[in-house]
Amino acid sequence: MRRKLILDVDTGTDDAVAVMLAALHPALELLACTTVNGNIPVEYCTENTLRVLDHIGRGDIPVYEGLAHPIARLDFPVPRRQSDHAGKYHPDILPVPPTKRRKQDASAVEFLVETYRKATDPIVLVAVAPLSNLAAAIALDAKFAARVPELVVMGGGHALGNVTPSAEFNIWGDPEAAAMVFAAGFPKVTLLPLDATHRAPITREHCAAMDALGTPAGQAAAAFIGHRIVVHDQHQRQPVPHSTPVHDALAVGFLVQPSLISTQRVHVAVETQGPLTVGRTVIDLLGRGSGVPNCDVAMDADAAGFAELLLRTFAAKA
Ligand code: RIB
Ligand code: CA
Repeated sequence: MRRKLILDVDTGTDDAVAVMLAALHPALELLACTTVNGNIPVEYCTENTLRVLDHIGRGDIPVYEGLAHPIARLDFPVPRRQSDHAGKYHPDILPVPPTKRRKQDASAVEFLVETYRKATDPIVLVAVAPLSNLAAAIALDAKFAARVPELVVMGGGHALGNVTPSAEFNIWGDPEAAAMVFAAGFPKVTLLPLDATHRAPITREHCAAMDALGTPAGQAAAAFIGHRIVVHDQHQRQPVPHSTPVHDALAVGFLVQPSLISTQRVHVAVETQGPLTVGRTVIDLLGRGSGVPNCDVAMDADAAGFAELLLRTFAAKA
C-alpha cells in the first residue's frame, strides 16, 4: 500500500522538487499540499504549488492555503527576501506555466485539523517550511499532535545556520510555532536539519542528467535546482563545486528510502528569545540537558542515493 502524506510547503525551488517527488513516486500517495508564508508570501507559494502539480500532470492533488504570517511575530521580517540572499533562491513565480485551477476554499489549518480528526489510515505529515500552520492546528485542536502518526520536518541546524549564524530559515521564520511543534508530543518526529541536507548536494551534472530525461518533472527539476546552483555559486559557494542542497526533497526522499539519512534520538527545543540565537534548534546530541529525547535527528545523508532517487523518479511520466 502506498504511504499517504500531506506536504506543508512554502514553494520555493526546493519545495517544488519535494512536491514533484511526493506526487510522482510510486510508493507515495500525496493527498494534498498545504501552503504557508515563508520563502515568499503565501499567495505565491500557493500559485507555485498549483503550477508545479499541473505541470507534472497531477492537477488532481488539491492545494490549501495557510497562514500569511508567523503565529506570534506579526512584525517579523518574514518574506525571506528581507534577510540574506535567500530571496534570490526563490523567485515569486516559478518558471512553469500558470495554473488553470484554484486553491481549495478551506484554509490549510482547517484542512489539517479535519483530515486528521477523520483519518482512518495513517497519514504522514511532512513540513518543509515555517511551522505556522502546524502550530495553528495544535492551537485549534488539542488532540492534533496525537492524531498525526508521523511528522517529518526539514528545518533547524546544529553546526550550521543559513538565515543567521545560529538559525535555519524554516525555524527562524516562525520560532514560536517551531517551539510549540517540538513540545507538542507528536508520537514520531524525524528532523532533517541543514547538517543532513548539506551532506546530499545535487550538482550541475545531476541537473544535466535530469534535463536529459525529457520529462516535465526532470526538466523542471533541472531548472529549479540549476537556479539554486547559480545563486549558491554567486553568494554561498558550496564545498562541492557548482552544487546545492535540495533540502525539502530529502525530507520526502527519507519516506521512500529511510537509508538516505542516519539519525540519532535526542531532545530538540527551539530558542525564541535571544537576539543572536532566536530560531535556533537546540539539538542535545550529548544528552547534556534534562529534556527527554523527542526527535530522531539526521546528521548525515547519502548524496549518491538521493541523486539517484530523484533521477529514477523523474524519469517516469505521471
Ligand atoms: O533552510 C532551508 C529551508 O528554507 C527550505 O525549506 C527552503 O525551502 C527554505 O524554506
Ligand atoms: Ca521550504
